[in-house]
Amino acid sequence: MINDSLLQSLHSHLAWWGLRQFTSDEAYFQWQREALSPAELAALHRQVERKRRGSPADEVAFYDATAHPNILPVLYSQRYDYYLAIGPRVTNRLGEARSILDAGCGVGILTTFYARQYPGKTFVGIDRSPVSIVRAQEQAKALGLSNVQFECLDLDQSPPTRSYDLILATHALVQAEQDSGIPSRSWSTFERAVESRLQADFERRTGLGLRLDRLNALLSAQGRMIVFEKTRQLARRVPLQRALAARDLGLIEQPELIRYRLVEEIADDGPFYLLGRGAPHQLPWDESPEPDEGRPFDRTKLHTGSTDPDAPLYENHWPSAQRAWEQLHNKRLLKETTRQEPDGRQLHVELGEAEEGVYLYCANTLDQRQLVIVEPVRAVVLESYYQEIVSSAF
Ligand SMILES: C[S@@+](CC[C@H](N)C(=O)[O-])C[C@H]1O[C@@H](n2cnc3c(N)ncnc32)[C@H](O)[C@@H]1O
Repeated sequence: MINDSLLQSLHSHLAWWGLRQFTSDEAYFQWQREALSPAELAALHRQVERKRRGSPADEVAFYDATAHPNILPVLYSQRYDYYLAIGPRVTNRLGEARSILDAGCGVGILTTFYARQYPGKTFVGIDRSPVSIVRAQEQAKALGLSNVQFECLDLDQSPPTRSYDLILATHALVQAEQDSGIPSRSWSTFERAVESRLQADFERRTGLGLRLDRLNALLSAQGRMIVFEKTRQLARRVPLQRALAARDLGLIEQPELIRYRLVEEIADDGPFYLLGRGAPHQLPWDESPEPDEGRPFDRTKLHTGSTDPDAPLYENHWPSAQRAWEQLHNKRLLKETTRQEPDGRQLHVELGEAEEGVYLYCANTLDQRQLVIVEPVRAVVLESYYQEIVSSAF
C-alpha cells in the first residue's frame, strides 16, 4: 500500500533533481530539443548506440555521459514513472534495517530519496560510473544529507567491504538485456532442465553470478535483499530465481510484476523480489508462465465468438495457447516441422485437423506460443500461413 504523502515527497524529490513527468512522446522530445543542443543530442544518440553493443566500457561511458548536469534531468525524466513504481515499494520495505547498500545506484536519485525518508538509517551507494558517483555526492551534499555516502566501485572488479542489513539491486544485476536466457527443455513445455552448465553459462554471460556472490557475502545473518531486474520473460526469470535460491536467498513475500510507463511506452518489468536468508522464508519459487491475456478455450463457444466471417474461430498468441492446443479433440497432423534456429531456440510449427476445425500451432523454446483455428473450408489460409512461417523462420 503506497500512501499519498510518500508519493508527494517523491514527486517533490524528483522535481528537486530537475525531472519532469511526461505522458506524451511529442511533449517529451520537444523538451529534449529545447534543453539540449543538437551536438549534445547527437553525442547522446551515439552513446546509446554504443551501449547497445554491451561492452562494460561502453556502458560506463553511457552512464558517465548521462550524469552530466545538462543531460541528467532530460534523460532520467524518461524513468519518472519507474521511480514512482520502485521508490515507494523499496521505502516501505526498509523496515528495521540500519545499514543499507544500494548496488548500482547510478546518480543516486533513489538512494537520496531513501536517505531523506530515513535520516536514522545509513545508506551507501556504489556504482562503477565515476561521473555518476561525483554527481550523487554533489547532490547529497546539496540536500544536506549526512546519512548517505557514494563510492565508485565496479562490482565485477572488486568486492565492496562492510556488512549490510539490506542490499538493494534495482536494474543493476542483469544488465544484459539482449540475453534471451535459458530455453525450455523442448517446444512442448515451459519447464527448464535443472542443468548446472546452462545456469553457470547464464550467470557468467550476464555477470549475475559474480555480482550476486559479492553482494551476498556482505549480507548480515538476518539480512534481506531487494532485487528488481528486467527478467520478466520466463527464460530470464527462471535462471535469476535459481541463482538467488542457490545462494540461500528465499522469498519473504510473493514477487510482484510491475508495469510502468516510459513516457508513452509500457514497460512490463520485474518481478520485484524481497528476499531473506534461509529457512524462515519458504515461499515457493514459481517457474510457470505468468497468467496471460489469451482467450480461454471453450469449444462450445467457438462458433459464437465473432460476427466477422473472416475472423478465425479461435486465436491465441499467449502461452495459454499451449493449454488450448492440448485440449483439442482428436488431433490429426497434416504437416509439421521442428527445427533448431541459429540463435539456439527450437521452433515447432504444425498444421492439423481436430474436431474443432483446422488449426495452426507454433511453439518455441523461448515460451512463444500461437494457436489459430479456422473452419475446414478456410484451411487454405492456414496452409499458406504455415508455409510463410516455415520459409521465413529458417
Ligand atoms: C539502469 S541504472 C540503475 C540505477 C538505479 N539502481 C535505479 O534503480 O535507478 C544501472 C546502474 O548500474 C551500474 N552498474 C552496472 N554494472 C555495475 C557493476 N558491475 N558495478 C557497479 N555498478 C554497476 C551502472 O553503472 C548504472 O549506473
